[in-house]
Amino acid sequence: MACRSKKELKMFVEEAKKCAAFGKVADYIPALGKANPNDLSIAIHYPDGECVSAGDIDRKITLQSISKVISLALVLMERETDEVFGKVGMEPTGDPFNSIAKLETMAPAKPLNPMINAGALVVTHLIQGSNVEDRFQRLLSFVKELANNPDICIDEEVAKSEFDTSQLNRALCYFLKQHRVIDEDVEELMDLYTKQCAIEMNCLELARVGMIFAMNGRDPDSGKQLIPEHIARICKTFMVTCGMYNASGEFAIKIGIPAKSGVSGGIMGAVPQKFGIGIFGPALDEKGNSIAGIKLLELLSETYQLSMF
Ligand code: DON
Repeated sequence: MACRSKKELKMFVEEAKKCAAFGKVADYIPALGKANPNDLSIAIHYPDGECVSAGDIDRKITLQSISKVISLALVLMERETDEVFGKVGMEPTGDPFNSIAKLETMAPAKPLNPMINAGALVVTHLIQGSNVEDRFQRLLSFVKELANNPDICIDEEVAKSEFDTSQLNRALCYFLKQHRVIDEDVEELMDLYTKQCAIEMNCLELARVGMIFAMNGRDPDSGKQLIPEHIARICKTFMVTCGMYNASGEFAIKIGIPAKSGVSGGIMGAVPQKFGIGIFGPALDEKGNSIAGIKLLELLSETYQLSMF
C-alpha cells in the first residue's frame, strides 16, 4: 500500500506541522538561520513516474548532510571498495554528527562512518579530479543525473557562509591530515565540501534521488543503472545505521526506512523497491533532524506500514 492521494498527504503535512514549533532552525551556518521554521513540504516519487506532493514544494533546500550519501556513491564508483573503507569505517557512533571525540580515542584515527562530518570529509577528499572545480563538477553532474534536472546548482550564499564559519570541520580536517588519513590542502577540501553541502534542490527532486536509491540504483525512466546495485545497497545500509545520526536507532524502530537528514531540514527517504521521499522542514530537533519531517515520516510509516523490519 502507498500514498497516492494529494489530499491525504496534505492532511499529514498539516498534522506534522504542529511539531515545528518545538524545533529550531540551524544557525551555526549563519545563512541557514534565515529559513522559515514553519515551512514543511513532502514529495513521494514512484518508479512509474507519478509524484505526489504537498506543502511549500517550491522551496529549495541545500542538501547539507544528505549530500554525504551521494558523494559516497560517487567515490565508491570511482575507487575500490577496500580503498575507501581503509580510510573510513562502517560503524555507527552514537555521537553528534560533528563530534571529534571518537577520532581521538580510536586507533587508527579513521572516522567511524561516512555519514558523520569527519567521515564525509574523507569521502569528499577521495572525489577524483584535477582540481576542486573539476571534482565539484563531477559530483554536480552525478547529482543532476540522479535528480533528472540539468539546472541544479549551488546556493552560493550558503556555501560561502559555511566556508567562512566552519572552524570545527577545519579542526577535523587538520586532525585527519596529522594522522595521514587525508593529504590535501585543508582550505581546498573545505571549499569542495562546503560546495557539496550547498547543492540545492526542491523536495520533488530530492524524492527522485531517493527513488533511485530505493530502486537499487536503476533509473526506471531511462532504464540506466545510474549507481551499481551493490553500491546503492551499501549507501542504503548506511542510511539505516547512521543516516539520522545518533537518532538512527530510534528512527529505525519507529519508522524503519533508509533515510538521510541534513541540517537545512531535509530528509531523503528510500523505501526499498517502492518509492523515494523528499522532505523539507527546517525546524530541527536537538539531534539536528527535521522535527516535523520525522513526525511526517512516522505518520506515513504507521499508515502504510512502511517499516522494512
Ligand atoms: O558540515 C556541516 O556541519 C554541514 N555542512 C552538514 C551537517 C549536517 O547536515 C548534519 N545533519 N544533520
